[in-house]
This record gives sequence, structure tokens and C-alpha cells, in this order.
Amino acid sequence: MKIAIEVPGSTSNLGPGFDCLGMALDALLHVEVEALPHRGLEIRVGGPHAHDLPTQSDNLVYATLLRVLRRRGVEPPGLRLRMQNAIPVARGLGSSGAAIVAGVVAGRLLCGEAALDRDELTAEAAAIEGHPDNVAASVHGGAVVAASVDGHVHSTRLPIPPDLRMLLLIPDHPVSTQEARAILPPQVALEDVVFNLARMGSLCAALALGDPHSLKMAMQDRLHSRHRLALVPGLAEALESLLQESGCRAATISGSGPTLIAFFDEYPAHAGRAAARLLQRHGVRSRIQSARPRAHGARWTHEPG
Ligand code: HSE
Repeated sequence: MKIAIEVPGSTSNLGPGFDCLGMALDALLHVEVEALPHRGLEIRVGGPHAHDLPTQSDNLVYATLLRVLRRRGVEPPGLRLRMQNAIPVARGLGSSGAAIVAGVVAGRLLCGEAALDRDELTAEAAAIEGHPDNVAASVHGGAVVAASVDGHVHSTRLPIPPDLRMLLLIPDHPVSTQEARAILPPQVALEDVVFNLARMGSLCAALALGDPHSLKMAMQDRLHSRHRLALVPGLAEALESLLQESGCRAATISGSGPTLIAFFDEYPAHAGRAAARLLQRHGVRSRIQSARPRAHGARWTHEPG
């Protein structure tokens, strides 16, 4: 059997939507899986972020695929995996979510499932990832509110203003999601919860109504951002500087960081340089990249054989 899968990376939380709001991005992971007539594992990686992907059994696409097969009592065949990865790894851009989605799709197809249900894919991937926001966006595409309900994930797609452009400021400083979750306090103040609830409601309403005017207020957060900004020297100042850019609709930390994401109506070539200089002053190199929302979620084809 030959399988080809394409999965978008994602930005999650979008400020107040901790663990429940995500948006697919136009940086993609491509995976080809071929079942071999003999035992063995061959993994080849390519693309701009290939060097960060393991080529042994700890590769996340392979480890997920194996988990899916074993859960169903299926012995893995020999496999050849080829990947092209354009999603920066450990930068808060959904690389692990995309790898897990690709592994779940490949595993289910190898088990002989022909028609894959996107809600089931999301639930299985979310159970592996531990939170549903990135995988729901990667599976469904667009902006998605993901609510975990008794082992399922209820996904609601929201429209995205068609002209929205995004700028990513990506520090050259990996932060694992595990590390970025471990530093969060186990309890939060009620007033901070109310602060976030008001902004989450405003953000969903702004997207649903196509009204970008309140985005700056609506992407504020008091649950996770300040703890994560503190993990990289200069990151809080860089975020403040992005918010001051003319034409900036909103800016926040992407997922668990350290990437900062800023939203503009038009992509200004100069934007982000002042923020990058602030990071550089703290000895942190970074790069600026433009991004667009990705309307399509994961796609796959397979040839039996
Ligand atoms: N919602 C998750 C978090 C995203 O903020 O930890 C991790 O990429």
C-alpha cells in the first residue's frame, strides 16, 4: 500500500483560547508511507525543517502510526516513510500536532479503514497530543474551536477575515510544549478566568461576524502568555513592539511559544524588524516569516497494493 498525506501546521490559543482555539497555517508536512514486502524501517526527511526530525523509531509520525496499529492489534509491516517538513519544530507552530495527525491517518489507512471520519481522527490525535486545539485545526483546516467532550472533540469552524495576513517572528530558541506546560500554575484567579472568557467570546464573535476591529483586545490573555514569554529573554518586549507596529490588528504568542504571531490587513515588509532587533539585544536570533491561514485541513490519498 502507498499513502500520501498532507497536514498543515497551526497556531493555537490565539491569546485567550488556551487549549481550545486553533488556526491552520500554510506551512505543511507531507508524508508518504509505503508498506514493504519485507521487515524493516526506512525514514527519509527533507524540506526546510528536516534536520529537526528524527529518522529512527522515535520519529513522531512513525511512533504514532505504530501506536494506532498496536491499539487495533495489527502487527506493523516493513515501512518506508518519506517526509517533507516546512513546519518549524518546537516553535509553537503545531509541528507535533501535524505529525500526530499524519500518523493517525497513516495508521488507520494501514489498518484497512477506507473512509476516515475527521471527528474521529481529531479525537484520536487529541488523545495522543494531550490537548485538541492544534490537531483540530490541522485536521479540519481554518480556525476551529475545539471542545473535548467525553473522549470526543466537538469542532466548530469559524470564518477568518479573507484579507488577514500574519507575520511570524520565530526565535532561534526551541521551547518544548512539555516545558511550556510545566511552568503554568495549577490554579488561576477567578478574575483572570473572567478576563479570558470575555476575550474568547469577543474573539469568536469578531471572527464569526468578520469584524477585525476588536481583535487586539480580544487576543489578550491572562492564563498562559506571560509565563511563556518569560522563557525567552526579550520576548515580552518584542511582543509589545509588534503590537505598536502601525496596522497591527493583534499579536500574541503562538501556541506554547516561543514564536510570536502578529495579524495585519496587509503584510508590511518592514514589520517585525524592530521586534527582531529587541530579541537580538538579548542575544536571541530570530527570523521573520509571513504566513496565511490554511482553509484546507489534512488531505490524503492511498493506493491499495
Ligand atoms: N494549547 C497548547 C498549549 C498548545 O498552549 O500548551 C501547545 O502547542
